[in-house]
Amino acid sequence: EDPRIQGIRTRIRVVPNFPKPGIMFQDITTLLLDPNAFKNAVDLFVERYKKENISVVAGVEARGFIFGPPIALAIGAKFVPLRKPGKLPGEVISEEYVLEYGKDCLQMHIGAVEPGERALVVDDLIATGGTLCAAMKLLERVGAEVIECACVIELPELKGRERLEGKPLFTLLESL
Ligand code: PRP
Ligand code: MG
Repeated sequence: EDPRIQGIRTRIRVVPNFPKPGIMFQDITTLLLDPNAFKNAVDLFVERYKKENISVVAGVEARGFIFGPPIALAIGAKFVPLRKPGKLPGEVISEEYVLEYGKDCLQMHIGAVEPGERALVVDDLIATGGTLCAAMKLLERVGAEVIECACVIELPELKGRERLEGKPLFTLLESL
């Protein structure tokens, strides 16, 4: 394991029973309080993707907006926000999905991503994988190629990786 991972792991706060009983909430705000650990997390993604000719980093609202933009800037890609319904002012396409706790929808601006673009999808965490599936569908519907999904944290018990149906997923660490 890269020596930087342990420092990142120790900065993630686990909050039991938030936002509902039985959920072990993985709080990345404590990682953000440590600039060195936050930078290490971004750097680990940048090192992996800088030579992959990624043209677009798509970040999932809200916590994918924290990690996506610094990665996009460092690898010279554009950043496209995938937003919750009703937030984007232009013409959008939508994908509904079932969440660990509830149902939701992601939208993307039409025209933000061109056919044939090489896309990286970024979020803080994969639980059931529903969010990343919806994100990938939005990109694929406009003809982009999703090279990989990247998250800081994976909850392996929820088997989100299986739901991605073979699409590559890269995560920095696993949590229970
Ligand atoms: C959380 C998390 C991921 C998603 C993972 O977001 O940030 O985006 O759930 O769950 P899944 O793999 O089961 O789909 P959430 O929608 O709770 O809200 P936020 O990012 O806006 O805080
Ligand atoms: Mg989220």
